[in-house]
Amino acid sequence: MEILHVSAECYPVAKAGGLGDVVGALPKYQLKSGHTAKVIMPMYRTKFLYENEWEVHSKGNTNLGERFFDYTIIKERSNKLGFDLYLVDINGLLDREKIYGYDDDVERFTAFQIAVVHWVSRWAHRPDVIHCHDSHTGLIPFMMKYCYGFQSLKSVPSVITIHNAQYQGWISWDKGRYIPEYDSWKKGMLEWEGTINPLASGIKCADKVTTVSGSYLEELRSYANGLERLFEYERGKCTGILNGIDTEVWDPATDTYISENYQISTVKEGKQANKKILCERFGLNEELPLFVFIGRLVGEKAADILPDSIMASIYGLPGKVSFLILGSGEPHVEWQLSNMINHYPGYYNAMIGYNEQLSHQMYAGADFLLMPSRVEPCGLNQMYSMRYGTVPVVRSTGGLKDTVVDMGEPGGYGIRFNHASVGDITYSIERGVNVYNDERHFNWMRKRMMLADNSWDKSAQQYIDLYSSLK
Ligand code: ADP
Ligand code: GLC
Repeated sequence: MEILHVSAECYPVAKAGGLGDVVGALPKYQLKSGHTAKVIMPMYRTKFLYENEWEVHSKGNTNLGERFFDYTIIKERSNKLGFDLYLVDINGLLDREKIYGYDDDVERFTAFQIAVVHWVSRWAHRPDVIHCHDSHTGLIPFMMKYCYGFQSLKSVPSVITIHNAQYQGWISWDKGRYIPEYDSWKKGMLEWEGTINPLASGIKCADKVTTVSGSYLEELRSYANGLERLFEYERGKCTGILNGIDTEVWDPATDTYISENYQISTVKEGKQANKKILCERFGLNEELPLFVFIGRLVGEKAADILPDSIMASIYGLPGKVSFLILGSGEPHVEWQLSNMINHYPGYYNAMIGYNEQLSHQMYAGADFLLMPSRVEPCGLNQMYSMRYGTVPVVRSTGGLKDTVVDMGEPGGYGIRFNHASVGDITYSIERGVNVYNDERHFNWMRKRMMLADNSWDKSAQQYIDLYSSLK
């Protein structure tokens, strides 16, 4: 089968969060099982672009409304990622350093999608499936089915995976002229509640819709940022497929980012050595249980209640617990978390920003990983933390519910709580401190979670089965 993934992110080319990790890993596993998987994404000006060799694969030109544009598709030469990687360059739109966050993101990603569909429609053959990811690629199924210029793709199956339904890519109708000419009877397939809604359009037009965990799919029927009814109507074509993790990138035995490699048999010493270095760097007391948070500092991740939860724990468990934060996001949360640094030396520190290497060092050196998320479609951090023997402390939602078993359950090795509230978080931290002090149980938990199989093998096959059902 030939699968073409279309995405705004792909690790290590460009990553803002878990979407990048998934699109960097899933194709590798599809390839391993004998299929041809390719990725196409925008050509941002990232380090990866400059450090690798490329060849021009194809050139074309088309329109974004009245704006005529040229695009160039380049291909990575050495097959570095294991799969064919194509980047689309559009001067003046995609030639930027950052992935998102520009005033013209609507123009950037609409032009990207048009270029991709234009390119594929000119192939001499047809791929077996076009797999879109999130709202930035949500207009593609519509364009393949209803735009006059792309009728050669009408019968090619499309799948859209929803990594996060909070972001829908809304486009006001005054920009409706950007969509290449289409059958006007099908206008409703672009729209949700009066605006062009790329995510909703993808859900309506794709042949299959997947969410990144089963529990998230259930939750979307009652909480989907306005799309609840749509998920209800379309339930017949929706499936939850849990993400896996790339066990080659995330392996404490071989990870080159961490100070000391370790495996299950050496987890205690290995983690202690990594913790020591981490604590020295951040001025923390290495004797204390270390709770970390790694992620986007936004409401979905409940980052706004982290400062109060941390302060309540430092006061409630005096001298017994320490914290380290790595993240960036909402300015007032960044400010609060930075501001606290001087107040709790030895017990608390934070690094505001994005730092891939430090994230690995934290998964390796921490004792616990906090994820109080209000919404978590899948969540990869908890799976990375388990692979590194770091106890996940998570709210029971979405993929967190599907991957973490509370230590109170038979065979459980994590900590789960129900509410994104200071009370539930501090209570869970206290449970963590208690089990940390029960060394035998704690070490058993570490070893048990490192054995959990969260690799892509199973889920990659579920995607193949799904594509096969479309033939
Ligand atoms: P989301 O995609 O919603 O942000 P996930 O749990 O799926 O959440 O994935 C987050 C990914 O981004 C993980 O690989 C995590 O380690 C990484 N990450 C998030 N914030 C940072 C940061 N500030 N520095 C380094 N890595 C980060
Ligand atoms: C999104 C979700 C996250 C998920 C990731 C990869 O960013 O917020 O929960 O793990 O996509 O699918």
